[in-house]
Amino acid sequence: MSPEQAKQLVAEAAIAYLEWDWVVGVGTGSTANLFIDELAKIKRNIEGTVASSEASAERLRSHGIKVYELNDVGDLPIYVDGADEATKHLDLIKGGGAALTREKIVAAASEKFICIVDDSKLVDRLGAFPLPVEVIPMAKSYVARQLVKLGGNPVLREGVVTDNGNLIIDVHHLQIDNPAEVERTINQIAGVVTNGLFAQRGADVLLLGGSNGVRTLT
Ligand code: 5RP
Repeated sequence: MSPEQAKQLVAEAAIAYLEWDWVVGVGTGSTANLFIDELAKIKRNIEGTVASSEASAERLRSHGIKVYELNDVGDLPIYVDGADEATKHLDLIKGGGAALTREKIVAAASEKFICIVDDSKLVDRLGAFPLPVEVIPMAKSYVARQLVKLGGNPVLREGVVTDNGNLIIDVHHLQIDNPAEVERTINQIAGVVTNGLFAQRGADVLLLGGSNGVRTLT
């Protein structure tokens, strides 16, 4: 089974977690896009969505699905999004699509976070995927120096500006023994908006797609 087919399986499986008239938090990336396409099939049953990126908002609107501002709705019952890496403890690395900050905000505002990935994303230890860090532009060199002190190899993602007008530094070779601790430490560097570790608020349900179908970790 190809990763694309596995992503399709979990995108379909996530629909079963939705209830009528909910406002649904929607993530970003190729797996989230497949979920959006599935959502389009049941759009009359939901109240609308909150998107974690301009790209997802555009795709949702192109399907005729209502997109609300997070500020105009209360907390959300559910957030569905992909990830770049996931552990069996439901800690994640996200931000390969540069949408990590809005993803973290929508996840924080949601009661349940359903993470949908193909099973190649399941790892024993996070960090083979370079950790994305969103940075205020004037702080990029300072933040990079602090990341070197933490043992990482920071690389500016060339040509990328986030939806919030900031830059992304991808940190290679970071030793992530305690994801929640590393998440906290990096977020305390002045100039960091947030980093792509989702451990303090990880997923609540991880749907893994693979040749044996969908496996659910909670
Ligand atoms: C975007 C993300 C995505 O969820 C992550 O990059 C996974 O993407 P894909 O579903 O395309 O593999 O965090 O910022």
